[in-house]
Amino acid sequence: MTEAPPIDAIADETAYAEAVQLAADAAAAYYGDGTSSLDDDAYDRLVRGIAAYEKAHPDHVLEASPTGKVAGVVGDVPHTVPMLSLDNVFGPEELAGWTASLERRLGRPVTAWSVEPKLDGLAIAARYRDGRLVQLVTRGDGSAGEDVSHAIGTIVGLPGRLADPVTVELRGEVMMTARQFEEACAKRQAHDGTTFANPRSAAAGTLRAQDRPYVCELTFFGYGALPLPDDTSDLATRLREWPHSRVMDWVAGQGVQTTAGTAVAGIVATSVEQVQQRVEEIAAARPELPFGIDGIVIKADDAADQAQAGFGSRAPRWAIAYKLPAVQKITKLLGVEWNTGRTGVIAPRAVLEPVELDGSVVTYATLHNPSDIKRRGLMLGDSVVVYKAGDVIPRVESPVVHLRTGDEQPIVFPEVCPTCGGEIDASQERWRCVRGRTCRAIASIRYAVGRDQLDVEGLADNRIQQMLDAGLIADFGDLFFLTREQLLGLERMGEVSTGNLLTAIDRARTRPLSRVFCALGVRGTGRSMSRRIARHFGSMEAIRAADAEEFQKVDGIGPEKAPVIVAELAELSDLVDKLVRAGVNMVEPGVAAVAGDEGGTTTAAPGGDEPGALPLTGMTVVVTGAMSGQLAALSRNQMNELVEQAGGRASSSVSAKTSLVVAGENAGSKRAKAESLGVRIVSPEEFAEMVAQLLPGRR
Ligand code: IVH
Repeated sequence: MTEAPPIDAIADETAYAEAVQLAADAAAAYYGDGTSSLDDDAYDRLVRGIAAYEKAHPDHVLEASPTGKVAGVVGDVPHTVPMLSLDNVFGPEELAGWTASLERRLGRPVTAWSVEPKLDGLAIAARYRDGRLVQLVTRGDGSAGEDVSHAIGTIVGLPGRLADPVTVELRGEVMMTARQFEEACAKRQAHDGTTFANPRSAAAGTLRAQDRPYVCELTFFGYGALPLPDDTSDLATRLREWPHSRVMDWVAGQGVQTTAGTAVAGIVATSVEQVQQRVEEIAAARPELPFGIDGIVIKADDAADQAQAGFGSRAPRWAIAYKLPAVQKITKLLGVEWNTGRTGVIAPRAVLEPVELDGSVVTYATLHNPSDIKRRGLMLGDSVVVYKAGDVIPRVESPVVHLRTGDEQPIVFPEVCPTCGGEIDASQERWRCVRGRTCRAIASIRYAVGRDQLDVEGLADNRIQQMLDAGLIADFGDLFFLTREQLLGLERMGEVSTGNLLTAIDRARTRPLSRVFCALGVRGTGRSMSRRIARHFGSMEAIRAADAEEFQKVDGIGPEKAPVIVAELAELSDLVDKLVRAGVNMVEPGVAAVAGDEGGTTTAAPGGDEPGALPLTGMTVVVTGAMSGQLAALSRNQMNELVEQAGGRASSSVSAKTSLVVAGENAGSKRAKAESLGVRIVSPEEFAEMVAQLLPGRR
């Protein structure tokens, strides 16, 4: 019998600091809201690894270590004013409860509120003497921290010199932006083949690292400024008397980075409604931010209000953290599945131990492509960081190497196409079956004739396969050339079914361009994008004539997607020619084609109304739940088509940008989210009234 391999030893001080941070985060989440990112076994393993490192390096034990064996050498810089924590609230009601209780305590309304993001990094005190940055101290236990002045010069946003020669302590958060995290992971990968678990623990490890052969950049955002306790200068007096928002303007004026200028800049609100609105705006902006936030901090802005409210033992009474749900958790990578998509791309998908993330249970996550798996050094059985933002598909970020048991296995890469067994073209980052679309002919045809595309009734998978096998078709364009005789020649195909199928195919010739385009299965364009493209260009001719620049005029197509669409269309050129020859409709009803010179499109409303007079012009609409009344028979795609015919934009997720939610029976989380955001909600019947002019049998 072979002995079980040892737990991966913690390699160096950075990895040790990172592991301590992970353990501290897990413990804080567990005791805070009971949603630990680590299971008991993983936590124990992490602590055993930490303990082993501490045994070998007794002088380097960190204050925050879960082993509780702090040596005297760290965390020995006393804070002039304690660095406190914040109490939490978890929703609008709790927030309203807290603001009310603060106003009761003060016996009057709070003068103004400051609303700012809760930055997901590590608190730090940056001490400036006569305008020069002289010392950096971590939060430690709140009353004394660790001197990390060696990091001076590596932190973006924290200048070595202030604009004025002042003596002051700035407080703020040290973190890694998404770009810095990527770069740090790449550097560490090149150094020892491992990556960091997440930006927060990477920042923690990096901040403490002293003898690393590579340097990783960090970012600072200030959120406060304190004069020394005995400072009686004018500036000190002003900093004590100014509202918090004014102090922050001063900090920014000294050349220090604050959140001002970001999408989630701190603002001053004068009512609880305004506070709640900003909370929602910040929450909605979170998925697009280039740095992590885990909540919103609401503070009484006025210095007198703060002074009167005072402090509890752990946290100030004049500030609160409104926590947002975790978008990142650690779980196990159980397996990797490889699937050939409609376009021939062979994509890996992670099978995960189910984990609750941002309101839903995640079991699968994307793994991008094979080189990404190699770059991240993932192994089967690894504890991995899974990330989910907004409604995007969750993705696997990185393995947590400190949690390895030694039982992890390499991920097996396919040698042949998992669908057809043919050769793989691995020359690009994304692997493809050399047969491209033909590999998944059945899947592409099934997609093209589906209900939301050409809607050819009665064309089941076995029929498609039968026609492929008989060599009657190779793509869905060939369907339009099938003859009665050919069909009758197939097994189990009688007069009636042949007649029905030919009628159904004939009907498919008249579908609007949006559906014909969608049927092509161009990479990166689904149903709603196809509708936007069709409405923008009006005809297939205009679509084919467009270059990448023209495609970028379509809402939702950026510089990355546009050239992919152009290239895909070139690849599909023969198929499109075939469809044209077959007499398939190539225009979008009610839309004038993009004219070469003038460029713009005109959207003509049905019934000859003026453009712009459509009932949903400029609105973003989300449909959820079961439709009823006049709309009962409409599929989700048909509802979205209706929204767009009415001049609106159909979306599948509710955010602060949503103008209207059509909520039918059993509408779940989307309705709840709309309610919390104050988005207008209507029933299917009310919506039918709004778009009555577009419904058949209109009044
Ligand atoms: S104010 C005494 N403002 O959150 C007031 N803190 O859970 C405490 N944090 O230790 C700090 N963003 O590290 C404040 N805009 C912000 C913040 C913020 C992040 C961190 C800070 C603090 C922790 C408390």
